[in-house]
Amino acid sequence: MSEVALLQLIGLIVVGLGVLILLFIKAKFFRVIGFVVIVLGGFSLIALSVPQMASLPPAIETFDITQVKTPDDLASIGQKIFFSKGQCALCHSIGPSESARCPDLNGIGAKLAPEFLYESLTQPQAYIYLDFRHGGVPEEYPARMPYINKNPIALSNQEIYSVIAFLQKMSGEPVSIKVEDVLREGNEGEMKVASVAVHGTP
Ligand code: HEC
Repeated sequence: MSEVALLQLIGLIVVGLGVLILLFIKAKFFRVIGFVVIVLGGFSLIALSVPQMASLPPAIETFDITQVKTPDDLASIGQKIFFSKGQCALCHSIGPSESARCPDLNGIGAKLAPEFLYESLTQPQAYIYLDFRHGGVPEEYPARMPYINKNPIALSNQEIYSVIAFLQKMSGEPVSIKVEDVLREGNEGEMKVASVAVHGTP
């Protein structure tokens, strides 16, 4: 029996109890209690008849890192991280975007060496970029690049390398991140990636 059905059954029993009290007991005090019980039980039955809408946290997709065989596998995990757990797409666009608050990452994997990409993610304040995309004096970007390896995003090294592999791949570069190196990073055995919740699928 489902939880709701069980609660409905309890509600019905409570209402039934109230009805029995009203039918068979003459003492005024108990009749009042019976009435209150019927009203409360009735309310809970109405509440329980409203369809339940569960709002669940996003489904967690896990990747078994030992199943990653090719740099392309790595890049496709990196792509998922980029758009979900890594939150990169909140700030960055790939290609021009009107609402971009941060550098456009189009072609970034070809422009920057993997070591520099790694530094951009883990030491974002080491080298600050200015926004030249407007007239006048270049300004700092309105947003700040977060430390990707620290809270709240806190990607593991394996996840960061996957994202770098993705940045290289989407820039049309050969992926220079080696799968063996990533496997050697950390012995967690598996990577956890919070996937984006798809509407309609709890
Ligand atoms: C809160 C907004 C924000 C988020 C989230 C964010 N970034 Fe950034 N990022 C920035 C800003 C602002 C800059 C430019 C300023 C600077 O260099 O510090 C930047 C710079 C960069 C650069 C250097 C760009 C260049 O031209 O050299 C890279 C690479 C980068 N981000 C990648 C990422 C990746 C990958 C993620 C996700 C794992 C990410 N960012 C998440 C705001 C963000």
